[in-house]
Amino acid sequence: MSFIEVKNVTYQYQDSSTKALDNISLNINQGEFVSILGHNGCGKSTLSRLLNGLLIAEQGEVIINGINTADEESIYEVRSNLGLILQNPDNQLVTTVVEEDVAFGCENLCLKPDEIRKRVDNALKAVGMYDYRMFDTYRLSGGQKQKIAIAGILAMKPKCIVLDEPTAMLDISAREEIIKIIKSLNQKEKITIILITHYMEEAIESKRVIVMNKGKIVLDNSPDIIFSQVELLKSYGLDVPQSIELIYNLRKRGYKIDYTLSAQGCINNIVSLLQGNDI
Ligand SMILES: Nc1ncnc2c1ncn2[C@@H]1O[C@H](COP(=O)(O)OP(=O)(O)OP(=O)(O)O)[C@@H](O)[C@H]1O
Ligand SMILES: [Mg+2]
Repeated sequence: MSFIEVKNVTYQYQDSSTKALDNISLNINQGEFVSILGHNGCGKSTLSRLLNGLLIAEQGEVIINGINTADEESIYEVRSNLGLILQNPDNQLVTTVVEEDVAFGCENLCLKPDEIRKRVDNALKAVGMYDYRMFDTYRLSGGQKQKIAIAGILAMKPKCIVLDEPTAMLDISAREEIIKIIKSLNQKEKITIILITHYMEEAIESKRVIVMNKGKIVLDNSPDIIFSQVELLKSYGLDVPQSIELIYNLRKRGYKIDYTLSAQGCINNIVSLLQGNDI
């Protein structure tokens, strides 16, 4: 049994004439780091809301850690197994003091105060915000607020965190910090990560990339295989990472050069191309 099982799920919003999700099936195992890409409106956020039971599939089933999200009595268990981080950090903070905010979800789990204290401190340390525990949340930057939102989810000890464009409203350095935190949660804490993003450079960090188009999953593979299909990705309205774009243009001009995702790999391939061509 996979940690996440999405079986033939179709979803259509009431006031919409098209299906937001059209017969999607997907399995994700505990400990995976998956990114989801896709053009605006292809259904990424709808999928994330179905995963934590904010929306319930009309057709098909969503099973999280063995629990069907349609089972109303277990919805709290689903949400403590799978936390959702959204794009706008301002919409996710509920109190004015950092540590109270991080404790909020735990308090709803009815844990003992000692346990909450321990979890809040650990979660704040994991996102590098322990020194800010007594700060007013409104004095924090966007990136810091997003870290507090992640800490609030972490304190609930979820097995999986779904992040729906968590860095969309952040500057580049805050973006990099958030991705570093996400990676470390996956590697050190073994938390399953599902990262919805429009940044190809972020998707490279994951082990598996899912591409959606018009409510369907159209590609599901490792980043190097996904990003070597440049024209297909462009046909889905997606960009490719800069290293891939550069190599794509060289290949179009007839140069024999392999795709590589890393900047260093790209330099190495270009150097050997230059040496081979005796330029
Ligand atoms: N609350 C809603 N009511 C009606 N239609 C909606 C609602 N939310 C989304 N949709 C529609 O459902 C489809 C999928 O939207 P969704 O927000 O899941 O896409 P997305 O891939 O997350 O897009 P983006 O990259 O812009 O965030 C779109 O056609 C959208 O217009
Ligand atoms: Mg969205």
